[in-house]
Amino acid sequence: MEVLDLLEIESEVTLPKRYSTLSVKEMEVRVQEIKSKFGDRLFIPGHHYQKDEVIQFADARGDSLKLAQICSQMPDAEFIVFCGVHFMAETADMLTKPDQKVILPDLRAGCSMADMADIDQTEIGWEKMQEIWGDTILPLTYVNSTAAIKGFVGKHGGATVTSSNAKKMLQWAFTQKERILFLPDQHLGRNTAFDLGIPLDQMAIWAPLEGTFEYDGNFEDVKVILWKGHCSVHEKFNLKHIENLRKQEPETKVLVHPECTYEVVQASDFNGSTSFIIDTIKHAESGSRWAIGTEMNLVNRLADENPDKQIISLNPFMCPCLTMNRIDLPHLLWSLEKLEEGEVVNQIKVPEEVSEYAILALNRMLERS
Ligand code: 13P
Ligand code: SF4
Repeated sequence: MEVLDLLEIESEVTLPKRYSTLSVKEMEVRVQEIKSKFGDRLFIPGHHYQKDEVIQFADARGDSLKLAQICSQMPDAEFIVFCGVHFMAETADMLTKPDQKVILPDLRAGCSMADMADIDQTEIGWEKMQEIWGDTILPLTYVNSTAAIKGFVGKHGGATVTSSNAKKMLQWAFTQKERILFLPDQHLGRNTAFDLGIPLDQMAIWAPLEGTFEYDGNFEDVKVILWKGHCSVHEKFNLKHIENLRKQEPETKVLVHPECTYEVVQASDFNGSTSFIIDTIKHAESGSRWAIGTEMNLVNRLADENPDKQIISLNPFMCPCLTMNRIDLPHLLWSLEKLEEGEVVNQIKVPEEVSEYAILALNRMLERS
């Protein structure tokens, strides 16, 4: 059987055919109707990378940090229909009250970066790191990770970070231990540590698939151990894009997310989290020109919302994040119509044995943000 056949079977199970026959207008009207009917009982958070067709219905828009903060102070909504990816919905579940139900409209909305660190690999890697460095390492994980990884980090005294607070969290981590293990995004880890003055030759890479370190210096000098993971969307920006742009449009400023590689971040004019990117564009001079290195739905939205500035993607052939795009209008409507019928579909529930320590890791971050 072909992979495409399997996907077809999966989508039939999750989304009835009827939704492909509805017009956009019909779907929009129904979503609005259900939202009005549920009122405060329903809350829809939406990440900035979501499609316009979905984000228009979000009760709050945010980056990962803002959405986590909103969920931790969520009013009394009974149902939280999360427009984002799986790890964000897990975080929402852990930060809301036990009787609040978190729903992800399409379970295929995962994150390839989060999938690059599983708990067994982490336990194996940790054991090797303990053999080399003993009890000198504090683990930090980007929120773009599974609840199990957050639990691992929380259990070992560490915390979660987002791209908005990575610098602050790394500074805190160094007050706790001599070394940091940074999961699962090597680029955010490297860019942030470098920003704090740690030279590249004091950063080792742990390659989980090979079970080896990529490092040729003296292990005693290592300050940061970077998990060899990456975002497949942000890795698509490269130095060539910046070089070409500098030649063709020297006055255009380059603004990138720190999930991009070290080389790209170093060659850019500015780098920062999703909210930093949005704020920078919002406050930029009218008539200014920007090439942005981040997810395409957000870049397009920034261009639409700032018609007085020229905004393009740093990579002219860029695609949106495919997993973020799994959440579309038909899936949103389907999950809401199911709720209307009294059925909760695609609920995200983190088991208590995992959430206990993961919540600790999340709270250590929220207290410092
Ligand atoms: P932030 O929202 O923390 O900037 O993260 C970007 C991202 O890749 C989310 O998946
Ligand atoms: Fe994951 Fe990258 Fe997509 Fe964010 S943009 S959800 S990190 S794959």
